[in-house]
This record gives sequence, C-alpha cells and structure tokens, in this order.
Amino acid sequence: MARIFLTGGGGFIGCAVASALAARGDEVTAFDIGESPALKALRARAANVSFVPGELTEWPQLAEAMKQARPDAVIHCAAVVGIVNSLASPLYTMRVNVEGSLNVLSAMRLLEVKRLINLSSEEVYGPFTREVIDETHACFPTQPYGISKFAVEQLARDFARANGLEAIHIRTCWVYGPGLPRPRVPKTPIEAGLAGRAFHIPNGAGYRVDQVYIDDLVAGLLGALDHPGHQHDVYHITSGEAHSLAEMVEIIRELIPGAQLSIGDGAYEVAGETAVRKGALDCSRAADAFGYRPRYPLREGLAAYVDALRRG
Ligand SMILES: NC(=O)c1ccc[n+]([C@@H]2O[C@H](COP(=O)([O-])OP(=O)(O)OC[C@H]3O[C@@H](n4cnc5c(N)ncnc54)[C@H](O)[C@@H]3O)[C@@H](O)[C@H]2O)c1
Repeated sequence: MARIFLTGGGGFIGCAVASALAARGDEVTAFDIGESPALKALRARAANVSFVPGELTEWPQLAEAMKQARPDAVIHCAAVVGIVNSLASPLYTMRVNVEGSLNVLSAMRLLEVKRLINLSSEEVYGPFTREVIDETHACFPTQPYGISKFAVEQLARDFARANGLEAIHIRTCWVYGPGLPRPRVPKTPIEAGLAGRAFHIPNGAGYRVDQVYIDDLVAGLLGALDHPGHQHDVYHITSGEAHSLAEMVEIIRELIPGAQLSIGDGAYEVAGETAVRKGALDCSRAADAFGYRPRYPLREGLAAYVDALRRG
C-alpha cells in the first residue's frame, strides 16, 4: 500500500488514476478546486480515496493538504488543459500550470516527498518533424498550453536535480474515453452518433494524431509510478499509432450503425488556427523500462468508449 497525493483528482485523467490506485489498495488524497460527480461517485465506493478542496496556486492550501496526506509520491494532473483554454487565458494558464507546479515541487521538498509523476503532453514538441517520434525529438512548443507544459518539465528537471527529487514526465497525446470533458473528437462524433444526430467535422480528414484510450494511459502511469529506478525522466505513454481522423470517423460509423458522420478535407483547425503537424509517439522507452504495452489500438479503444457510453 502506498499513499499518493493526486492533484487534479477530480478531472478526467485524475479520477481514472484515483480509481485504479484505490482498486489496488493505495491511499489516495485527491486535491482539486472542486469535487466532480465522478470523484464523488468513486469516493462513495472506495473508502481509501479522500478529497481535499484546494487551489494549486494557493501555497498554504496545497502545502497543508500534502502535509496531512504524508504521501510516498505525487501524481500531478491538475492544470489548465488544452490549446483552446490556454488561448482564452494565457496568463492564468501560466499561473496554474507553471506557478502551481512549482508549488507542488516546493511542497514536496519541504515534506521530503521524493517522487513526482507529472502529466505532460505531446504539445511540448510543437510541430512533429517525422511520422513517428521518440522522446529525443526537439521541443519547440508554439502556444501557451504547450509552452507551459514544456516550462514545467524544464523547471521540474532543474528543481529535481538541485533538491534530490525525482520528477518523471509522462508525455501523452489525445486521451479519450468515458469522462472526457472537452468537446472534441472522438467524444463529439460518438455522442452525436449515439443520439441519432448528424455530425460533420468541417476539416482534417487527413490529419494524423496519436489517440490513447484512458485505460492504457492509466496503466502506463502506474507502471512509471511503481518502477524502482528510472534511467530517463521522460516517457511516452500513448497508443503508439497515428490514425487519420477520417479513419477514426469510419471506425465510429462501423461501431454505431446508421450514424450520420462525415469529415471534410483540408487542414485540421484548433481554435481557428491550422493545427501543427502531429503523428505517432514511439513508446518503446516505456516498454523497455517498465513493460508498458498499449492494449487498445484505436478500433478497440473506440469500441470500449462506445460500449461505456451505451451502458450509461
Ligand atoms: N486529456 C488529454 O487529452 C491530455 C493530453 C495530454 C496531457 N494531458 C494532461 O493531463 C492532465 C490532466 O488532464 P485532464 O484531461 O484530466 O484534464 P481535466 O480538465 O479533466 O482535469 C484537470 C483537473 O485539474 C483541476 N484544476 C485545474 N486548475 C486547478 C487549480 N488551480 N488548482 C487545483 N486544481 C485545478 C481541475 O478542476 C480538473 O479537475 C493535465 O496536466 C493535462 O495537461 C491531458
């Protein structure tokens, strides 16, 4: 049994991580601005998950919560997430993501917590220069979200070196599955298909991106958490494949017979801008280090997601 302090424990990924930790008997303290319905439901069935409301940028709240939790390790999921949100409020994004993460590190130093698992993102790379990239690909993030995530990695790397901590960064890509909060693919076409609504994605048929099913990400995170001696401080945890959005739409159509879904050609756009080139994230470093093996290729992951939404 380990005691884990989990920031963003009310969120999409945080709540799934809390559920997996609780199922194996760990003690989880979920720290978040608010308690989501999903976290409330989890706490109703898992006595080893507790919730502490708090704001990452409020040092006393965070430090006191971590002190009470006496954790063996921290999993850091709390953030302002996504390009759209970060463009809407760049300063707040920097404050929460960068200052908030430094607060997490400072609290760890004070309380002598030695291991941080930080949720990072493929957005740290900016435009991919190859179809498949590994963790050595250059990082030139282009928007506030990716810049904040890269800043956190670099600051944590420096802080960890100077203070004898271990900060491990998990770069994942487009995570999907039950509980995905943001209105983006594959949530939007699947929900429309299940509701019998026609849905058209205006552009991006040829856009290739690595989409990872939530259960694979959680398995990889726990693998990194449990691994005794890391040789690296960055790992990819994704599906390892990049299908086009047209392929994704086609699979969803097959999974939901009669769904009226379509996608147009042309550059994929996010927040009115052409999205940077992406591709697949090679996961062989995580495979070699702690045996990470994605179990959900896109078709299987979409099928699991559709099944979960059908069950309600
Ligand atoms: N979902 C994805 O596709 C994806 C991809 C790559 C990386 N990530 C990273 O994974 C992590 C979790 O993402 P998610 O999809 O679960 O997002 P989410 O929005 O569902 O969860 C984030 C949680 O952080 C909490 N939070 C935000 N600001 C806070 C603050 N100031 N103080 C305390 N709590 C705060 C929110 O209330 C929310 O519950 C983030 O670090 C994100 O950058 C997500």
